[in-house]
Amino acid sequence: MKRTFGLLALAAAVFVPSDASAQNTYIGVKACTMCHKSEKQGQQLAIWEKSKHASAYNTLTTAKSAEIAKAKGLTKPAAESPECLECHAIKGGPNAADIKQGVQCESCHGAGSGYKAMATMKSRELSQKGGMVVYADKAAIEAQCKSCHNAKSPTFKAFNFEEAWKSIAHPKPAA
Ligand code: HEC
Ligand code: HEC
Ligand code: HEC
Ligand code: HEC
Repeated sequence: MKRTFGLLALAAAVFVPSDASAQNTYIGVKACTMCHKSEKQGQQLAIWEKSKHASAYNTLTTAKSAEIAKAKGLTKPAAESPECLECHAIKGGPNAADIKQGVQCESCHGAGSGYKAMATMKSRELSQKGGMVVYADKAAIEAQCKSCHNAKSPTFKAFNFEEAWKSIAHPKPAA
């Protein structure tokens, strides 16, 4: 798993990473959603596209972000500043998926190159071995959200987990 942004370090106690995840690279939303957009699978693509996570990078290019960056004394534009990108996008080495995808599938599920294959994905155990992040319970999910939804966010007011999770949940419908 990439160590280039703070939230992963912060969330290390929550995530259950495997050795394999160390070499994994980000593959991007399109590669995940070729299998996760149908009604039968739960339309994860459409749900994510409607969420603010999908525009989290674009937000850094707005006048409001420029103001915040200026007030903080940042020397680069918000969209190029690690101080903003750490929560608004995935960024990593040369294999990082498109930064403009903002907070995307792999921000929460882990870099996908090691678990994206159908044979791996069909098994939860193999997926986890391949680096997919697994959440033990609701509390683990909430802790992961709060690795970004916290007072380090310059615009932070409050975070209501139950409400927020309901608005972005994307379960597979029961068969
Ligand atoms: C080749 C098709 C394919 C690709 C590509 C793919 N998945 Fe999956 N994924 C599946 C299938 C099939 C399942 C099993 C779903 C089921 O129970 O029917 C699954 C299950 C999952 C689960 C649930 C695991 C569990 O047991 O809790 C998550 C989370 C997930 N995928 C995320 C992703 C992410 C993120 C990506 C991109 C990095 C991705 N998938 C790419 C086919 C795919
Ligand atoms: C990698 C950082 C990150 C993680 C992890 C994260 N979020 Fe977010 N979230 C953001 C950012 C950044 C925004 C603001 C996007 C914008 O407005 O451009 C946001 C916005 C939201 C919004 C829109 C409402 C609002 O407050 O602006 C909801 C709802 C939300 N997140 C829910 C969640 C939930 C639930 C989780 C955990 C399952 C979660 N987020 C995990 C970064 C994150
Ligand atoms: C600790 C994670 C974190 C960091 C660091 C962060 N943000 Fe955010 N940002 C969020 C989250 C989460 C939201 C949505 C909820 C909120 O406002 O806290 C958000 C929302 C925003 C919004 C939309 C707020 C609105 O009301 O429309 C702007 C603009 C923004 N961030 C700009 C920035 C800029 C500029 C930086 C860098 C100086 C930055 N953020 C750094 C997590 C972060
Ligand atoms: C803000 C964090 C976040 C983002 C972004 C996100 N997910 Fe998830 N996803 C979760 C959490 C948390 C769960 C619930 C895991 C659990 O209950 O163990 C989940 C569950 C899933 C499941 C399992 C559904 C089920 O009922 O079996 C799939 C499949 C999945 N996500 C795919 C995706 C795909 C594809 C994307 C991108 C289009 C995506 N997720 C974006 C956090 C996220």
